[in-house]
Amino acid sequence: MFQKILLFTIAALAAVRAAPASRSDSAITDADILQYALTLEHLENAFYAEALAKFDQGAFAGAGYSSDVRQRFVEIGEHEATHVKFLSDALGSDATKACNYSFPIPDPRSFASVAATLESVGVSAYAGAAHYIDNSDYLTAAATILSVEARHASWVNANANSSDPFPAPFDTPLSPSEVLKLAAPFIVECPSSNPKLPFDT
Ligand SMILES: *[C@@H]1O[C@H](CO)[C@@H](O)[C@H](O)[C@H]1NC(C)=O
Ligand SMILES: *[C@@H]1O[C@H](CO)[C@@H](O)[C@H](O)[C@H]1NC(C)=O
Repeated sequence: MFQKILLFTIAALAAVRAAPASRSDSAITDADILQYALTLEHLENAFYAEALAKFDQGAFAGAGYSSDVRQRFVEIGEHEATHVKFLSDALGSDATKACNYSFPIPDPRSFASVAATLESVGVSAYAGAAHYIDNSDYLTAAATILSVEARHASWVNANANSSDPFPAPFDTPLSPSEVLKLAAPFIVECPSSNPKLPFDT
């Protein structure tokens, strides 16, 4: 149910994404975009850490998954942790910190379904933020993360969620405001010291 609402919301937001941004692009710095990316990577990292702590190999087997599925999720979780470290290192002491989250994952199947949604939103987030990035090294780094998130999305869809690994010829770019609105239901509370992102939420 939740995923249906989320996917519907993605479709609805994509339809209105021509709406003007809250600030002109030029007022948004590369550091803002790195903080934004880190905000999302923290969420994904916490999501996999929580799920993998909660569901062991037996839980995945009990949900009907073959023995390799949990290990793939472990790999995905390691990638997200590495993205968090990479972005945190780039931002230094100003790096935004992890929040407290709440994920609707009572069992491995619902976890996989939320994973499919989060990975697909991740792809849309990187695609929709690329045009803000001025520094070409950051742009290349973002491209290399985007393609890995897309592989995650494909694998999760095909092997854990019985859905199409590449559902469309184009992915849907979403603006930071749109993505942060989608992420908001998962976020309980963030450290008050976290920098404020320059996007309407
Ligand atoms: C995951 O599977 C559910 C149930 O089949 C489906 O409704 C949902 O759209 C799938 N998620 C993604 C991101 O494809
Ligand atoms: C997160 O939750 C823990 C305990 O559940 C609490 O100690 C901590 O202050 C919370 N942190 C934030 C940023 O809300």
